[in-house]
Amino acid sequence: MIVVTGGAGFIGSAIVWELNNRGYHEIMVVDRLGTEKKWRNLRNLEIADYWDKQEFLAMAGNDDLPVKPEAILHLGACSATTQEDADYLMRNNYQYTKYLARYALEHDVRFIYASSAATYGDGELGYRDDHNLLSQLRPLNKYALSKYAFDLHALHNGWLDKIVGLKYFNVYGPNEYHKGEMRSVIHKSFGQAQNNGKIRLFKSHREDCAHGEQKRDFLYVKDAVNMSLFFLENPDVNGIFNIGCGEARSFNHLARAVFKTLDLPENVEYFDMPADIRDRYQYFTEADISKLREAGYEKEIHTLEEGVADYLNNYLLTDDPHLG
Ligand SMILES: NC(=O)c1ccc[n+]([C@@H]2O[C@H](COP(=O)([O-])OP(=O)(O)OC[C@H]3O[C@@H](n4cnc5c(N)ncnc54)[C@H](OP(=O)(O)O)[C@@H]3O)[C@@H](O)[C@H]2O)c1
Repeated sequence: MIVVTGGAGFIGSAIVWELNNRGYHEIMVVDRLGTEKKWRNLRNLEIADYWDKQEFLAMAGNDDLPVKPEAILHLGACSATTQEDADYLMRNNYQYTKYLARYALEHDVRFIYASSAATYGDGELGYRDDHNLLSQLRPLNKYALSKYAFDLHALHNGWLDKIVGLKYFNVYGPNEYHKGEMRSVIHKSFGQAQNNGKIRLFKSHREDCAHGEQKRDFLYVKDAVNMSLFFLENPDVNGIFNIGCGEARSFNHLARAVFKTLDLPENVEYFDMPADIRDRYQYFTEADISKLREAGYEKEIHTLEEGVADYLNNYLLTDDPHLG
């Protein structure tokens, strides 16, 4: 049995989808479905069991899981960078991960957890997944702190040669629909282009950067999944790894790719970035993925244009936009 926490969420459900594609169905999803749309992410998938996140943690804590898992892919977290309740974030993201990691280590279960590129803060130190730089990072929001706290805990306890932490960059693609404001700019742009023929992007508030030239490492979810599963296939590879495409692309490029796929003329409107995020806004992120490559990950990675075309043509423009 492979446990996928956050398995009804965006990346987690895409991981379950790919495990199904590879013929694997002994999967336990752990999540919290609530009243949102994310149950739809599970509708097309084959899983063997489902547990609520709190019940699962209690069972693991009491050594009372129905089966001993082969691996735990811990994607579950409050993923909202705008979450203001820091106590909730520390309990739900940091403490939860700590308890689960301890269970996995005590029971010799492969443990792969989601960290985040948000832990790099303003990028002053670059985006290298070098363990020696970890303690110098300065996360810019509460969510990032909750992820960073576990990276540091794992470092200080000597766990980083036994478990894997994945620093996802900006992942986009099918099954992100429940994420509201946290869904990718690609999904938002698709809706705007289709409904109004126009995409709205933040203005730049820095003189050295033109409007729309802010850059991100955008990663298609199918690549994020393959990279994550690489660590399941290679149990001897451990540590913290960047999970990105390795090339920063601008929001203008993104808009162009959406218009091109929809066969619409380019029409971008720039608007003021909300004042409260201006001082925390990242103008540039780019994953250094040399460590992932050196560890043996060889698959080609979708370019932004390829990812956008696959996402729109094979999902968003079809009757059922979900994976499966
Ligand atoms: N998408 C990205 O670009 C990106 C970038 C960097 C890092 N990440 C990380 O990658 C992971 C997956 O992100 P995502 O985009 O797929 O987010 P998502 O769609 O919000 O999925 C996460 C799921 O986990 C659930 N959850 C929350 N806390 C949990 C816990 N303690 N145990 C089990 N399930 C829990 C969430 O439910 P509720 O919150 O509703 O309870 C949600 O359904 C997260 O850890 C996120 O922080 C994602």
